[in-house]
Amino acid sequence: MINIAQPIIDKEEILHVQEVMKSGIIASGKKVLEFEINFAKYSNTRYGVATSSGTTALHAAVIASGIKEGDKVITTPFTFAATANSVLFEKATPIFADINPNTFNIDPDHIENILKNTPDVKALLIVHLYGLPCDMTKIMALVNKYNLILIEDCCQAHGSKYYGENVGNFGITSTYSFYPTKNMTTGEGGMVLTNDHIVYENIKKLINHGQQERYVHSQLGYNFRMTDISAAIGIEQLKKLDHFNNKRIDNASFYNKNIKNDLVTLPLIPKDHHHVYHQYTIKVKDRKRFIDHLQKHEIGFGIYYPVPLNAQPYYKQLGYDPTQSPVAMKLCKEVVSIPVHPGLSKDQVRKIVEVINHYA
Ligand SMILES: Cc1ncc(COP(=O)(O)O)c(C=O)c1O
Repeated sequence: MINIAQPIIDKEEILHVQEVMKSGIIASGKKVLEFEINFAKYSNTRYGVATSSGTTALHAAVIASGIKEGDKVITTPFTFAATANSVLFEKATPIFADINPNTFNIDPDHIENILKNTPDVKALLIVHLYGLPCDMTKIMALVNKYNLILIEDCCQAHGSKYYGENVGNFGITSTYSFYPTKNMTTGEGGMVLTNDHIVYENIKKLINHGQQERYVHSQLGYNFRMTDISAAIGIEQLKKLDHFNNKRIDNASFYNKNIKNDLVTLPLIPKDHHHVYHQYTIKVKDRKRFIDHLQKHEIGFGIYYPVPLNAQPYYKQLGYDPTQSPVAMKLCKEVVSIPVHPGLSKDQVRKIVEVINHYA
């Protein structure tokens, strides 16, 4: 079986975890600090705060970016639930804009339609889905024109760049996930990045019970801390991130060149969008039949995402209507992600191409 995802943990990670375990300091300590500094530096951002997951990173980012009860936040319905849930955690209101049918990312024209017809939108929470940056030129024009707070969900976009600039530096905050299927992992884990010192100080307190110093709680906060065990894994994984991403990009280039089947639409990459291929996602009309074909040949796959958020039972209960994002509704029935991870051998990548090219 060729798996859809496969974390690569080697002796460096194991030795570093052993060092932490032996040190006796296994909760949040100096390894977390080191990982925060290294990851922020890698992303060309000033400050990083490590968290227990991408979800807790998003929750802290939403609070620290100034989103409050009743605020309207435009986001995408074509993402993992944590994105919009983080807005609901603070009793703010997600408003779903539709997506671009070629890039799967939030559609700036649709964002503008909403902005023209909806007063007092406070923020925009975008997702660089599958590792492909959003159309940041158009998005930044809207952010400036409508004076919006921008948060970037980079949970699938470690190392992704837009015209040479790292994603995560366009918004006031950006968030990362280090779940094992991601481009790099810490087991579970996350990070918030920001270039703003005041926001940084706030996030540090938010993730640590609102403490400004030990047992002095100056605000409401949570335990969203990362452990030194996770950070030790992260420090080693980060050293390999470019290598992992390059392997993903090589695998994707091989697919782009060699998959030739009229029943399959390959991903489109706009100019100067540095895609890090968290997922390689194709479109097929008769998905059930295609998936059966992959399964017969023992090729793993993923459907990201089978249901847009505004069609999820919980969101429907809240009154959301998925017909307002028809592109997302259509694409959720057509997308299939095929293995692109760095653990694939050349033979496996060739087999995947062959199996897809023989699909009729
Ligand atoms: C776009 C997006 N946002 C948020 C998250 C949440 O991250 P985590 O699973 O680490 O909580 C994920 C993880 O799947 C994600 O893909």
